[in-house]
Amino acid sequence: MKKVKIGVLGCGRGNTMIDYCLKNKDVELVAICDFNDYYLSRTVEKLKKHRMPTKVFKNFDDFLECEMDGVVLANYANDHAPFAIRCLDKGINVMSEVLPCENLKEAVELVEAVERSGKIYSYAENYCFFNCTREMRRLYQSGFLGEFMYGEGEYIHNCEGVWGELTKADRNHWRNTKSAFFYCTHSAGPLIHITGMRPVSVQGIEGDYSQKMKDLGAGGASIAIEMVKLENGGTFKSIHGGGLSENSVWYSMYCSEMEIESGREVPGRRGSTLGHIYMKDDRHVPGRKRFFRSYEVKESREARKAGHGGSDWYTMHNFVGAIRGEKTEIIDVYEALDMFFVGHFGFLSALNKGVVTEIPDFRDRTVRERYRDDIRCCTPAKGKEQTLPSNAQGGMNTTDEAYERMKKQMELQRTEKRGGLSEGWKWFWGELKIALNLHKKIK
Ligand SMILES: NC(=O)c1ccc[n+]([C@@H]2O[C@H](COP(=O)([O-])OP(=O)(O)OC[C@H]3O[C@@H](n4cnc5c(N)ncnc54)[C@H](O)[C@@H]3O)[C@@H](O)[C@H]2O)c1
Repeated sequence: MKKVKIGVLGCGRGNTMIDYCLKNKDVELVAICDFNDYYLSRTVEKLKKHRMPTKVFKNFDDFLECEMDGVVLANYANDHAPFAIRCLDKGINVMSEVLPCENLKEAVELVEAVERSGKIYSYAENYCFFNCTREMRRLYQSGFLGEFMYGEGEYIHNCEGVWGELTKADRNHWRNTKSAFFYCTHSAGPLIHITGMRPVSVQGIEGDYSQKMKDLGAGGASIAIEMVKLENGGTFKSIHGGGLSENSVWYSMYCSEMEIESGREVPGRRGSTLGHIYMKDDRHVPGRKRFFRSYEVKESREARKAGHGGSDWYTMHNFVGAIRGEKTEIIDVYEALDMFFVGHFGFLSALNKGVVTEIPDFRDRTVRERYRDDIRCCTPAKGKEQTLPSNAQGGMNTTDEAYERMKKQMELQRTEKRGGLSEGWKWFWGELKIALNLHKKIK
């Protein structure tokens, strides 16, 4: 079988997809690209160990000249659409990391590029591919659960221990300039994908723009909450953010026949990789619950070795399969935008005192025409005079000291890494520091 030729832009998160290419013999990693020397050289070292003759680029224009069947976009989260459009216009299939775009103008342009190219656009919303979310989708689509009525999606990720590295201690990094609503697809995405329904309206509620966020150098509020109405009249709550002290990933659904919920993913305990289901007749029997394992046993064995509870394997596996012409489960551009809209319109709602805000359907050309010139977003280079503040509480308010502190954190961790601290020890050290801080606060 001819190998599928893949290129990867961005060598931070992009290493997850690079690792997939290194492990799978039906894929060839033809090129990588990153303009950051630190990230690029780390990846080049790894490729040397695998004796992989991958071409290495710092410049995207040169990278794009390579012969590639598919490009993985793991560059900045607010900068995917322009790069996706360049690839699609060159006849290259695209898998885009979250998020698909940053404003509605980009959303219109992205849909048009996908339509005119006829190429595959696959949105790598990996949280839709946990064992639990895949199982919830299978059961919902089979009709077993009945009609969706109410649900919750939760993605709380406290990254304070690695914020310096994540943002490169840069005030203008997207993680610092975005609103809390931007990174919405890990909580809202799975509920949209499981039900297969379009969100039609949203109400946005913002958490506190806390001192902790300011100390990190971030402009977004601690959390964002979206109350979303789906096209069948069902409602879900999506909550996400990095400003709370714990981590948690969790999904639940109340349907006309059944309730179903995932195990809760918290530090030290896996949950979202599993599926718990409570059946109607069980409700009044304390402790009685049924437990479903993943149904695709062979695939999940391979997936288990991949990151994010195996979900990272599915996004790549399905993208490569689609390029080969197989019928795989990918999240297309319209569904990707439905997921993005939850946060985007949720933020517009929060800026407007939480009024219920309509979500448009970009499948309809005449509808999306209304948004062609809508440049509103938090990045000044794109939003120009319409640039939005990064929170609804007076905007970003950080000091230079925050970035100096984050720089020190980043440099210290990079030194530890050079000193050979393994990933396992690094994780342990990070958890210990959080626990010690917590202990200090409690005292
Ligand atoms: N799905 C998930 O679970 C998950 C997890 C982490 C990150 N992500 C996503 O992955 C993406 C990357 O995140 P990250 O954590 O690596 O941090 P990041 O956004 O800081 O890294 C992006 C990398 O791309 C490089 N880059 C950006 N623009 C470039 C250009 N024009 N030319 C060459 N190189 C360029 C940067 O130097 C950097 O190394 C983001 O979209 C993020 O949302 C997803």
